[in-house]
Amino acid sequence: MEIEALVREYGSPLFVYDAGHIRRQYKRLTQAFEGIPFDIHYAMKANENPAILKIIKDLGGGIDAVSPGEIDRALNLGFDKTDIVFTPSCPDVEELKYAFSKGVRVHIGAAEYFPLLGTFLKNKKTGLRVNPAIGIGGNQKIATAHIDSKFGMPVNDLQKVKEYQSLYGFEVEAIHIHTGSNVNNIGDLKKTVDHLFEIAGQFDNLRYLDAGSGLKIKYRDTDKETDVEEYAAYIKSKVKEYGKNIRILLEPGKYLVGNAGILVTTVNIVKKGYKKLFAGVNSGFHHLIRPMYYDAYHEIINISNPGGEKKTYDVVGQLCEEDTFAYDRELNEVRRGDILIIKSAGAYAYSMSMNYNLRPKPKEILIDGDKIKDISQKI
Ligand code: LLP
Repeated sequence: MEIEALVREYGSPLFVYDAGHIRRQYKRLTQAFEGIPFDIHYAMKANENPAILKIIKDLGGGIDAVSPGEIDRALNLGFDKTDIVFTPSCPDVEELKYAFSKGVRVHIGAAEYFPLLGTFLKNKKTGLRVNPAIGIGGNQKIATAHIDSKFGMPVNDLQKVKEYQSLYGFEVEAIHIHTGSNVNNIGDLKKTVDHLFEIAGQFDNLRYLDAGSGLKIKYRDTDKETDVEEYAAYIKSKVKEYGKNIRILLEPGKYLVGNAGILVTTVNIVKKGYKKLFAGVNSGFHHLIRPMYYDAYHEIINISNPGGEKKTYDVVGQLCEEDTFAYDRELNEVRRGDILIIKSAGAYAYSMSMNYNLRPKPKEILIDGDKIKDISQKI
Protein backbone atom coordinates (compact mmCIF):
# COMPACT_ATOMS: atom_id res chain seq x y z
CA MET A 1 0.00 0.00 0.00
CA GLU A 2 1.23 3.49 -0.70
CA ILE A 3 2.18 5.73 2.18
CA GLU A 4 -0.61 8.17 1.26
CA ALA A 5 -3.14 5.35 1.57
CA LEU A 6 -1.70 4.36 4.96
CA VAL A 7 -2.12 7.94 6.13
CA ARG A 8 -5.71 7.98 4.91
CA GLU A 9 -6.36 4.77 6.82
CA TYR A 10 -4.34 5.31 10.02
CA GLY A 11 -3.63 9.04 10.10
CA SER A 12 -0.30 10.65 10.86
CA PRO A 13 2.20 10.91 12.47
CA LEU A 14 2.77 7.24 11.88
CA PHE A 15 5.68 4.84 12.21
CA VAL A 16 5.83 2.33 9.36
CA TYR A 17 8.12 -0.71 9.71
CA ASP A 18 9.20 -3.24 7.11
CA ALA A 19 9.50 -6.82 8.42
CA GLY A 20 11.43 -7.89 5.30
CA HIS A 21 14.28 -5.47 6.06
CA ILE A 22 14.70 -6.89 9.57
CA ARG A 23 14.82 -10.45 8.23
CA ARG A 24 17.35 -9.53 5.54
CA GLN A 25 19.68 -7.80 8.03
CA TYR A 26 19.40 -10.72 10.44
CA LYS A 27 20.18 -13.21 7.71
CA ARG A 28 23.18 -11.26 6.48
CA LEU A 29 24.65 -11.20 9.97
CA THR A 30 24.07 -14.89 10.70
CA GLN A 31 25.46 -15.91 7.32
CA ALA A 32 28.58 -13.82 7.91
CA PHE A 33 29.21 -15.65 11.21
CA GLU A 34 28.51 -19.16 9.92
CA GLY A 35 31.15 -21.63 11.06
CA ILE A 36 31.58 -20.47 14.67
CA PRO A 37 29.19 -20.76 17.65
CA PHE A 38 27.36 -17.44 17.34
CA ASP A 39 24.21 -15.85 18.76
CA ILE A 40 22.39 -12.62 18.04
CA HIS A 41 20.88 -10.93 21.08
CA TYR A 42 18.74 -8.12 19.73
CA ALA A 43 19.13 -4.91 21.80
CA MET A 44 15.41 -4.42 22.36
CA LYS A 45 15.90 -0.85 23.61
CA ALA A 46 16.18 0.06 19.91
CA ASN A 47 12.57 -0.91 19.30
CA GLU A 48 10.62 -2.85 21.88
CA ASN A 49 7.42 -3.29 19.89
CA PRO A 50 6.14 -6.83 20.61
CA ALA A 51 5.53 -7.49 16.91
CA ILE A 52 9.16 -6.64 16.13
CA LEU A 53 10.34 -8.83 19.01
CA LYS A 54 8.28 -11.71 17.61
CA ILE A 55 10.05 -11.37 14.26
CA ILE A 56 13.40 -11.65 16.06
CA LYS A 57 12.16 -14.63 18.04
CA ASP A 58 10.92 -16.42 14.93
CA LEU A 59 14.35 -15.87 13.37
CA GLY A 60 15.92 -17.65 16.35
CA GLY A 61 17.39 -14.56 18.00
CA GLY A 62 17.83 -13.80 21.67
CA ILE A 63 17.50 -10.54 23.58
CA ASP A 64 19.76 -7.97 25.18
CA ALA A 65 17.65 -6.42 27.97
CA VAL A 66 18.53 -3.48 30.19
CA SER A 67 15.65 -3.26 32.68
CA PRO A 68 13.27 -5.56 34.53
CA GLY A 69 10.53 -4.27 32.21
CA GLU A 70 12.46 -5.45 29.17
CA ILE A 71 13.19 -8.83 30.79
CA ASP A 72 9.48 -9.27 31.58
CA ARG A 73 8.41 -8.35 28.07
CA ALA A 74 10.87 -10.78 26.51
CA LEU A 75 9.85 -13.61 28.84
CA ASN A 76 6.14 -12.92 28.27
CA LEU A 77 6.70 -13.17 24.53
CA GLY A 78 8.20 -16.62 24.98
CA PHE A 79 11.93 -15.97 24.74
CA ASP A 80 13.76 -18.61 26.74
CA LYS A 81 15.40 -17.21 29.89
CA THR A 82 18.78 -18.44 28.69
CA ASP A 83 18.34 -16.51 25.46
CA ILE A 84 18.20 -13.24 27.38
CA VAL A 85 21.27 -11.32 28.53
CA PHE A 86 20.81 -8.50 31.01
CA THR A 87 23.32 -5.66 30.69
CA PRO A 88 21.86 -2.79 32.71
CA SER A 89 23.52 0.52 33.43
CA CYS A 90 23.89 1.37 37.15
CA PRO A 91 20.96 -0.83 38.23
CA ASP A 92 19.76 -1.07 41.78
CA VAL A 93 21.15 -4.23 43.33
CA GLU A 94 17.59 -5.58 43.64
CA GLU A 95 17.29 -5.44 39.83
CA LEU A 96 20.33 -7.67 39.51
CA LYS A 97 18.84 -10.10 42.03
CA TYR A 98 15.57 -10.05 40.07
CA ALA A 99 17.40 -10.92 36.86
CA PHE A 100 19.29 -13.78 38.56
CA SER A 101 16.01 -15.06 40.04
CA LYS A 102 14.48 -15.14 36.55
CA GLY A 103 17.40 -17.21 35.29
CA VAL A 104 18.53 -14.76 32.62
CA ARG A 105 22.24 -14.20 32.03
CA VAL A 106 23.49 -11.20 33.96
CA HIS A 107 26.40 -8.96 33.00
CA ILE A 108 27.65 -7.01 36.01
CA GLY A 109 29.19 -3.65 35.15
CA ALA A 110 30.96 -2.62 38.39
CA ALA A 111 33.14 -4.39 40.95
CA GLU A 112 31.21 -2.47 43.63
CA TYR A 113 28.18 -4.75 43.13
CA PHE A 114 29.96 -7.89 44.37
CA PRO A 115 30.09 -7.09 48.10
CA LEU A 116 26.48 -5.89 47.86
CA LEU A 117 25.40 -9.21 46.36
CA GLY A 118 27.75 -11.18 48.63
CA THR A 119 26.73 -14.75 49.35
CA PHE A 120 23.64 -14.37 47.12
CA LEU A 121 26.12 -15.10 44.34
CA LYS A 122 27.21 -18.49 45.70
CA ASN A 123 27.38 -21.05 42.88
CA LYS A 124 25.92 -18.56 40.41
CA LYS A 125 27.36 -17.75 37.03
CA THR A 126 27.78 -14.18 35.89
CA GLY A 127 29.21 -12.12 33.08
CA LEU A 128 31.34 -8.99 33.48
CA ARG A 129 30.90 -5.80 31.49
CA VAL A 130 34.31 -4.24 31.04
CA ASN A 131 35.26 -0.76 29.85
CA PRO A 132 38.56 -1.01 27.99
CA ALA A 133 38.82 2.82 27.85
CA ILE A 134 39.02 3.20 24.10
CA GLY A 135 37.05 6.22 22.99
CA ILE A 136 35.06 5.17 19.99
CA GLY A 137 31.42 5.42 18.89
CA GLY A 138 29.54 7.46 16.31
CA ASN A 139 29.12 10.46 18.61
CA GLN A 140 30.20 11.49 22.12
CA LYS A 141 26.71 10.81 23.46
CA ILE A 142 26.66 7.25 22.14
CA ALA A 143 30.27 6.28 22.95
CA THR A 144 30.34 3.97 25.94
CA ALA A 145 33.89 2.72 26.42
CA HIS A 146 36.04 5.79 26.85
CA ILE A 147 37.98 6.68 29.95
CA ASP A 148 35.22 8.91 31.37
CA SER A 149 32.34 6.58 30.56
CA LYS A 150 29.99 5.32 33.27
CA PHE A 151 29.57 2.00 31.46
CA GLY A 152 31.36 -1.17 32.52
CA MET A 153 34.21 -1.67 34.99
CA PRO A 154 37.80 -0.52 34.51
CA VAL A 155 40.13 -3.32 33.42
CA ASN A 156 42.10 -2.92 36.66
CA ASP A 157 39.03 -3.97 38.66
CA LEU A 158 39.11 -7.48 37.21
CA GLN A 159 41.66 -8.40 39.85
CA LYS A 160 39.20 -7.34 42.57
CA VAL A 161 36.48 -9.43 40.93
CA LYS A 162 38.75 -12.45 41.12
CA GLU A 163 39.20 -11.87 44.85
CA TYR A 164 35.42 -11.60 45.31
CA GLN A 165 35.11 -14.77 43.28
CA SER A 166 37.04 -16.78 45.84
CA LEU A 167 35.23 -15.01 48.69
CA TYR A 168 31.67 -15.55 47.44
CA GLY A 169 31.99 -18.62 45.24
CA PHE A 170 30.58 -17.51 41.89
CA GLU A 171 31.78 -18.29 38.40
CA VAL A 172 32.60 -15.82 35.64
CA GLU A 173 31.12 -17.22 32.46
CA ALA A 174 31.32 -14.25 30.11
CA ILE A 175 33.10 -11.03 29.26
CA HIS A 176 31.13 -8.22 27.66
CA ILE A 177 32.35 -5.07 25.95
CA HIS A 178 30.12 -2.63 24.11
CA THR A 179 32.07 0.33 22.83
CA GLY A 180 29.29 2.52 21.51
CA SER A 181 26.74 2.84 18.80
CA ASN A 182 27.26 3.40 15.08
CA VAL A 183 31.03 3.03 15.16
CA ASN A 184 32.44 4.68 12.05
CA ASN A 185 35.57 2.68 11.59
CA ILE A 186 35.73 -1.12 11.44
CA GLY A 187 39.30 -0.92 12.82
CA ASP A 188 37.79 0.37 16.08
CA LEU A 189 35.40 -2.56 16.25
CA LYS A 190 38.31 -4.92 15.72
CA LYS A 191 40.18 -3.20 18.56
CA THR A 192 37.23 -3.96 20.82
CA VAL A 193 37.45 -7.60 19.85
CA ASP A 194 41.18 -7.60 20.62
CA HIS A 195 40.43 -6.32 24.12
CA LEU A 196 37.70 -8.92 24.56
CA PHE A 197 40.08 -11.78 23.79
CA GLU A 198 42.90 -10.26 25.80
CA ILE A 199 40.65 -10.14 28.87
CA ALA A 200 39.29 -13.60 28.10
CA GLY A 201 42.83 -14.89 28.47
CA GLN A 202 42.74 -13.91 32.16
CA PHE A 203 39.79 -16.23 32.97
CA ASP A 204 39.25 -19.98 32.80
CA ASN A 205 35.93 -21.62 31.95
CA LEU A 206 34.36 -18.78 29.98
CA ARG A 207 31.31 -19.85 28.01
CA TYR A 208 30.87 -16.81 25.80
CA LEU A 209 32.28 -13.45 24.77
CA ASP A 210 29.84 -10.65 24.06
CA ALA A 211 31.13 -7.99 21.66
CA GLY A 212 28.07 -5.73 22.15
CA SER A 213 27.24 -3.86 19.00
CA GLY A 214 28.47 -0.67 17.33
CA LEU A 215 27.43 -1.92 13.91
CA LYS A 216 26.97 1.09 11.70
CA ILE A 217 24.07 1.73 9.36
CA LYS A 218 23.43 4.22 6.59
CA TYR A 219 21.65 7.36 7.71
CA ARG A 220 22.61 9.09 4.47
CA ASP A 221 23.35 7.72 1.04
CA THR A 222 27.05 8.42 1.38
CA ASP A 223 27.35 6.56 4.72
CA LYS A 224 28.99 3.16 4.74
CA GLU A 225 27.38 0.33 6.67
CA THR A 226 29.76 -1.84 8.73
CA ASP A 227 31.14 -4.56 6.50
CA VAL A 228 29.80 -7.41 8.64
CA GLU A 229 31.56 -10.03 6.51
CA GLU A 230 34.93 -8.43 7.19
CA TYR A 231 34.09 -8.04 10.89
CA ALA A 232 32.96 -11.67 11.12
CA ALA A 233 36.12 -12.90 9.39
CA TYR A 234 38.21 -11.02 11.94
CA ILE A 235 36.29 -12.48 14.88
CA LYS A 236 36.57 -15.97 13.39
CA SER A 237 40.33 -15.60 13.17
CA LYS A 238 40.46 -14.53 16.83
CA VAL A 239 38.32 -17.50 17.88
CA LYS A 240 40.70 -19.81 16.07
CA GLU A 241 43.71 -18.19 17.72
CA TYR A 242 42.00 -18.47 21.14
CA GLY A 243 41.77 -22.20 20.60
CA LYS A 244 39.22 -23.04 23.31
CA ASN A 245 35.47 -23.58 22.90
CA ILE A 246 33.71 -20.23 23.04
CA ARG A 247 30.44 -18.70 21.79
CA ILE A 248 30.39 -15.21 20.33
CA LEU A 249 27.44 -12.93 21.03
CA LEU A 250 26.53 -9.70 19.28
CA GLU A 251 23.83 -7.31 20.48
CA PRO A 252 22.75 -5.35 17.42
CA GLY A 253 19.92 -2.86 17.72
CA LYS A 254 20.02 -0.31 14.93
CA TYR A 255 21.65 -2.73 12.46
CA LEU A 256 18.49 -4.86 12.54
CA VAL A 257 15.77 -2.24 12.81
CA GLY A 258 17.19 1.25 12.13
CA ASN A 259 16.47 1.31 8.44
CA ALA A 260 13.38 -0.87 8.78
CA GLY A 261 11.31 2.13 9.87
CA ILE A 262 10.17 5.55 8.73
CA LEU A 263 8.26 8.28 10.51
CA VAL A 264 5.46 9.64 8.36
CA THR A 265 4.44 13.21 9.14
CA THR A 266 2.06 15.76 7.69
CA VAL A 267 2.89 19.42 7.13
CA ASN A 268 0.69 21.56 9.38
CA ILE A 269 1.99 24.86 8.07
CA VAL A 270 4.64 26.38 5.85
CA LYS A 271 5.71 29.69 7.33
CA LYS A 272 8.28 32.37 6.61
CA GLY A 273 10.48 33.77 9.36
CA TYR A 274 12.75 36.78 8.84
CA LYS A 275 15.10 34.73 6.75
CA LYS A 276 14.11 31.11 6.98
CA LEU A 277 11.35 29.08 5.46
CA PHE A 278 9.87 26.61 7.95
CA ALA A 279 8.02 23.39 7.18
CA GLY A 280 6.13 22.72 10.41
CA VAL A 281 5.15 19.05 10.73
CA ASN A 282 2.82 17.28 13.17
CA SER A 283 5.66 15.66 15.12
CA GLY A 284 8.75 16.71 17.09
CA PHE A 285 11.38 15.32 19.44
CA HIS A 286 8.64 13.57 21.39
CA HIS A 287 8.58 11.08 18.47
CA LEU A 288 12.13 11.19 17.13
CA ILE A 289 14.73 12.82 19.34
CA ARG A 290 17.87 11.74 17.48
CA PRO A 291 18.34 14.92 15.39
CA MET A 292 17.99 17.15 18.44
CA TYR A 293 19.85 15.03 20.99
CA TYR A 294 22.71 13.73 18.85
CA ASP A 295 22.66 16.16 15.91
CA ALA A 296 21.86 13.03 13.93
CA TYR A 297 21.11 13.30 10.23
CA HIS A 298 17.87 11.74 8.99
CA GLU A 299 16.87 11.88 5.36
CA ILE A 300 13.56 13.63 4.71
CA ILE A 301 11.48 13.28 1.55
CA ASN A 302 8.39 15.16 0.45
CA ILE A 303 6.47 12.29 -1.11
CA SER A 304 3.51 14.50 -1.98
CA ASN A 305 5.40 16.67 -4.46
CA PRO A 306 8.22 14.63 -6.01
CA GLY A 307 8.53 16.91 -9.04
CA GLY A 308 8.31 20.15 -7.07
CA GLU A 309 10.93 22.89 -7.32
CA LYS A 310 13.77 22.44 -4.81
CA LYS A 311 13.63 24.91 -1.92
CA THR A 312 15.46 25.17 1.37
CA TYR A 313 13.57 24.60 4.62
CA ASP A 314 14.09 24.13 8.30
CA VAL A 315 11.88 21.15 9.06
CA VAL A 316 10.49 21.75 12.52
CA GLY A 317 8.06 20.04 14.86
CA GLN A 318 5.09 21.34 16.79
CA LEU A 319 6.41 21.26 20.34
CA CYS A 320 6.86 24.45 22.32
CA GLU A 321 10.57 23.85 22.12
CA GLU A 322 13.41 24.03 19.67
CA ASP A 323 12.62 20.77 17.83
CA THR A 324 14.26 21.01 14.43
CA PHE A 325 14.51 17.78 12.45
CA ALA A 326 16.72 19.38 9.79
CA TYR A 327 18.29 22.79 9.20
CA ASP A 328 18.54 24.29 5.72
CA ARG A 329 17.39 21.10 4.04
CA GLU A 330 16.63 21.08 0.32
CA LEU A 331 13.24 19.54 -0.35
CA ASN A 332 10.83 19.49 -3.24
CA GLU A 333 8.50 22.42 -2.62
CA VAL A 334 6.53 21.82 0.56
CA ARG A 335 2.88 22.78 0.83
CA ARG A 336 0.46 22.58 3.74
CA GLY A 337 -0.92 19.04 3.92
CA ASP A 338 2.07 17.44 2.17
CA ILE A 339 3.40 14.22 3.62
CA LEU A 340 7.06 14.26 4.66
CA ILE A 341 8.72 10.99 5.53
CA ILE A 342 11.68 10.92 7.89
CA LYS A 343 13.88 7.91 7.20
CA SER A 344 15.92 5.59 9.44
CA ALA A 345 13.33 5.82 12.21
CA GLY A 346 13.13 2.14 13.13
CA ALA A 347 15.62 2.36 16.01
CA TYR A 348 15.61 4.70 19.02
CA ALA A 349 12.61 6.62 17.70
CA TYR A 350 9.42 5.20 19.19
CA SER A 351 11.44 3.61 22.01
CA MET A 352 12.71 7.06 23.07
CA SER A 353 9.38 8.81 22.51
CA MET A 354 7.37 10.63 25.14
CA ASN A 355 4.14 12.49 25.74
CA TYR A 356 5.63 15.95 26.23
CA ASN A 357 3.08 18.77 25.77
CA LEU A 358 0.45 16.03 26.25
CA ARG A 359 0.97 15.03 22.64
CA PRO A 360 0.12 11.40 21.88
CA LYS A 361 2.65 8.94 20.51
CA PRO A 362 2.27 7.90 16.87
CA LYS A 363 0.58 4.70 15.78
CA GLU A 364 2.84 1.95 14.44
CA ILE A 365 2.21 -0.14 11.35
CA LEU A 366 4.09 -3.25 10.23
CA ILE A 367 4.28 -4.17 6.56
CA ASP A 368 5.00 -7.86 6.16
CA GLY A 369 4.91 -8.92 2.50
CA ASP A 370 1.42 -8.02 1.36
CA LYS A 371 0.07 -7.87 4.92
CA ILE A 372 -0.39 -4.65 6.85
CA LYS A 373 -0.75 -4.89 10.62
CA ASP A 374 -1.61 -2.22 13.11
CA ILE A 375 0.95 -2.90 15.86
CA SER A 376 0.36 0.30 17.84
CA GLN A 377 1.24 0.24 21.52
CA LYS A 378 -0.91 1.53 24.35
CA ILE A 379 1.87 3.37 26.19
N1 LLP B 1 24.46 -3.45 23.68
C1 LLP B 1 24.53 -2.52 24.65
C2 LLP B 1 25.08 -2.88 25.95
C3 LLP B 1 24.08 -1.21 24.39
O1 LLP B 1 24.15 -0.30 25.35
C4 LLP B 1 23.53 -0.90 23.12
C5 LLP B 1 23.06 0.42 22.85
C6 LLP B 1 23.46 -1.90 22.15
C7 LLP B 1 23.95 -3.16 22.46
C8 LLP B 1 22.89 -1.68 20.78
O2 LLP B 1 23.59 -0.74 20.04
P1 LLP B 1 23.19 -0.46 18.52
O3 LLP B 1 23.38 -1.72 17.73
O4 LLP B 1 21.75 -0.09 18.48
O5 LLP B 1 24.06 0.62 18.07
N2 LLP B 1 20.01 6.08 21.21
C9 LLP B 1 21.26 6.11 20.48
C10 LLP B 1 22.01 4.85 20.60
C11 LLP B 1 22.27 4.50 22.04
C12 LLP B 1 22.53 3.10 22.18
C13 LLP B 1 22.52 2.67 23.60
N3 LLP B 1 23.04 1.36 23.74
C14 LLP B 1 20.98 6.44 19.03
O6 LLP B 1 19.84 6.69 18.71
O7 LLP B 1 21.90 6.50 18.21
